[in-house]
Amino acid sequence: MTLPAAVRLVEVGPRDGLQNEPGSIPLAERIALVDGLSAAGFRHIEVGSFVSARWVPQMAGCAEVLSGISRQPGVTYAVLTPNLRGFEAAVAAGASEVAIFAAASEAFSLRNINCSIRASLDRFEPLMLAAKGLGMRVRGYVSCALGCPYEGNVSASQVASVAHALYAMGCYEVSLGDTIGTGTPGATRRLIGQVAKQVPREHLAGHFHDTYGQALANIYASLLEGLSVFDTSVAGLGGCPYAKGASGNVASEDVLYMLDGLGIATGVDRQRLLQAGQRICQVLGRANASRVARALQVLPAPQPTHPNG
Ligand code: HMG
Ligand code: MG
Repeated sequence: MTLPAAVRLVEVGPRDGLQNEPGSIPLAERIALVDGLSAAGFRHIEVGSFVSARWVPQMAGCAEVLSGISRQPGVTYAVLTPNLRGFEAAVAAGASEVAIFAAASEAFSLRNINCSIRASLDRFEPLMLAAKGLGMRVRGYVSCALGCPYEGNVSASQVASVAHALYAMGCYEVSLGDTIGTGTPGATRRLIGQVAKQVPREHLAGHFHDTYGQALANIYASLLEGLSVFDTSVAGLGGCPYAKGASGNVASEDVLYMLDGLGIATGVDRQRLLQAGQRICQVLGRANASRVARALQVLPAPQPTHPNG
């Protein structure tokens, strides 16, 4: 399989990253983060979510973030919505796109959205109908695609079946979430092979958390399997409040460095991305989890290597 010439990076830091922070983040800094990421060249940014503030207090104020950002032409400002109520709030706040999220494990579904997988899919139906009526695109997530914090192993056929359900109800793309980062490249390739029997590869994306340090390798494995859309998080921020111990998403800076090295275009500017990452890390008072960002703080920037160079 040849590697793609270009990859679309979905920057999820303002949502998947910040949702897991212990303290509350000033709205102005959430807005500055989104603007910093669009200035860096991301064309798809997950701004936040319209979920219960009792469940995920860090995402309260998502409407204010959407109204405060400087919208750039051609940028999709997406938000997570668990139900019709969240969808309606997202539309009112001017989100360009929404994402629904199901799990491949029953235990995780219960902990994360308080219902069974079947009930969650039923709950998405009216949302999908409303989105269709407005011509709004909906992305889908399948969490625990490579392991569950409560059930352990999750079968690829179960992931395929949930991914297919989301695709069949109208999601234009389904992102396979390695929520706890336990996946390895072999498991990733087997998973994509299985899911691709039910959802075409060009409608799949990879969402890797880096808990076990496998995320870049899993992205490379996914590239070999024909995927060309990946969710990444500036400065490696993140985790999931309902997956204890799960570390952040793979750092956008690290993925960009790898893709630059492979000669794969992303449209993202490294320096501007580094600036956005450093700023939010200062606000949060935490170390930058990107290896590339850390290296570039002390080392001169290396020239990207080329595919055969
Ligand atoms: P519930 O308690 O079963 O439902 O929660 P409910 O209808 O009884 O509502 C509970 C409360 O939430 C009520 O308020 C509702 O009004 C309110 P209260 O009476 O307690 O004051 N509510 C809402 N508020 C704002 N927006 C809404 C909304 N809906 C109800 N849309 C619910 C069900 C889904 C709402 C809840 O479980 C929830 O919000 N869960 C959010 C979980 C979440 O955001 N998890 C993190 C994102 S998923 C993730 O990180 C994984 C991913 O990154 C991929 C990967 O890594 O694998 C995507
Ligand atoms: Mg995630």
